[in-house]
Amino acid sequence: MKIGIASDHAGFKLKKEIVARLKKEGYDVKDFGVFQSKRVDYPDYGEKVAQEVSVGHLQWGILICGTGIGMGIVANKFKDVRAAVCNDPCLAKIARSHNDANIICLGGRITGEEYAWESVKVFLETPFSGGRHYRRIGKIRKIEKICA
Ligand code: RB5
Repeated sequence: MKIGIASDHAGFKLKKEIVARLKKEGYDVKDFGVFQSKRVDYPDYGEKVAQEVSVGHLQWGILICGTGIGMGIVANKFKDVRAAVCNDPCLAKIARSHNDANIICLGGRITGEEYAWESVKVFLETPFSGGRHYRRIGKIRKIEKICA
């Protein structure tokens, strides 16, 4: 289960914490930066992970900016990416079970480390429920094709 993670400066501190916890739990995680807290532009880092998820090199993505919103907007431009801003575990669970999301976006200025970690864990552990939700994902794919 390969996970890619990236942040901008506003998510840097939270990213460091999440990377450490993922490694401690034995997850296969690749860090795409940033590696210091100097101001950067979140699209430059969001696109690195979203691109890799889009082509299937990564199964999961974790993107962190100030709110999670900017990263979510960037990531959802990529084919077959379903990125969801989940600053709490309840949303993380539904993003997986209903939306089959493959990237979780977090806000380093919004959520604390414990809560963010709980959201990541729930996200990685919750399966897609399929059924009627599968049909809806199919409709998203159709729209994606029309807009390509
Ligand atoms: C950076 O100041 C901030 O705008 C960015 O991290 C993010 O919150 C954008 O969505």
